Amino acid sequence: MTTKESVLALFEEQRGAYFSGEEIAVRLAVSRAAVWKAVNSLRKEGYEIDAVPNKGYCLAVDTDMLSAQGIEKYLDEEGQKTKLCVLPEAESTNTLLREKANNGFPEGTVVLASTQTKGRGRRGRSFYSPADTGLYLSILLRPDGMTPDQAVKITTMAAIAVCEAVEEISGKETWIKWVNDIYQEGRKISGILTEASISMENGSVEYVILGIGVNVYPPKEGFPEEIKETAGAVFEEKQQDGKNRLAAQIINHFFEEYRKTDRTDYVEKYRAKSLVVGKKITVLSPSGDRTAQALDVDQDCHLIVQYENGQTERLSSGEISVRIS
Ligand code: BTN
Repeated sequence: MTTKESVLALFEEQRGAYFSGEEIAVRLAVSRAAVWKAVNSLRKEGYEIDAVPNKGYCLAVDTDMLSAQGIEKYLDEEGQKTKLCVLPEAESTNTLLREKANNGFPEGTVVLASTQTKGRGRRGRSFYSPADTGLYLSILLRPDGMTPDQAVKITTMAAIAVCEAVEEISGKETWIKWVNDIYQEGRKISGILTEASISMENGSVEYVILGIGVNVYPPKEGFPEEIKETAGAVFEEKQQDGKNRLAAQIINHFFEEYRKTDRTDYVEKYRAKSLVVGKKITVLSPSGDRTAQALDVDQDCHLIVQYENGQTERLSSGEISVRIS
């Protein structure tokens, strides 16, 4: 850890508490000048650090800055096994993590960024990722002997984890629009993009990049025209440590499910949160759009639909998505 990271970890452990420059220097075994430099550098990044003569430095209680030290405070035993890499900016956390995966980084590596310049969504779309108001994270997984078809379960597990985390923190109910869109109060607040690398030798999944984007607050300049009627945010106003808490709870809830040897009950949870089951929908696929009735979600999280001609189909995500009619 750098001195700056150690100073931040100390402040994060006890927000609102004052530490004298000397105390910090002794605790971290660095010079007072190094402490002063670290505090200044944190301030430049946007941290609100108060300095009072004879008392010392103190991190404001209502700080809401994304950081590894801030997230780690809220991680449970499983969550603590992850390795966090928090960046002020990335083109796309999925793209960056893919590079790390190809370089042998282990399962549980998590990349988070305060903003993305080329955030990616499903079906080749872009994902709007403005600075400081959203959460953009990617988790590297190396599941044992998983087939590409089974990889859809990662997306559905993640959708439940996002719902549970958002509900815990906001106290407001969430819903899942198959397969990977999270809704709250009728608006999309989160999307998930799962990408996998498949072994050419045996067709199994080498690794999975699970990318999650959440609109934590409304963007300062508002949502862009093309999504402003459908997009929403978890909170209207800044919350104390909103982004760090949410990131940690998503990680905690996801790994709680993922680590289970018997992963069956999440399908029940997924069904219960479904926004589409029982509704008339439009199935959007490269071969054209078709009206259907969404009947159920099966054990593998495929969506069972019935078209107007009576024919039923079991949809797996891939290039297909649905629109509620
Ligand atoms: C969708 O709604 O179509 C999926 C959006 C997924 C966005 C997340 S943000 C973190 C990760 N990095 C990306 O470039 N995309 C995913």
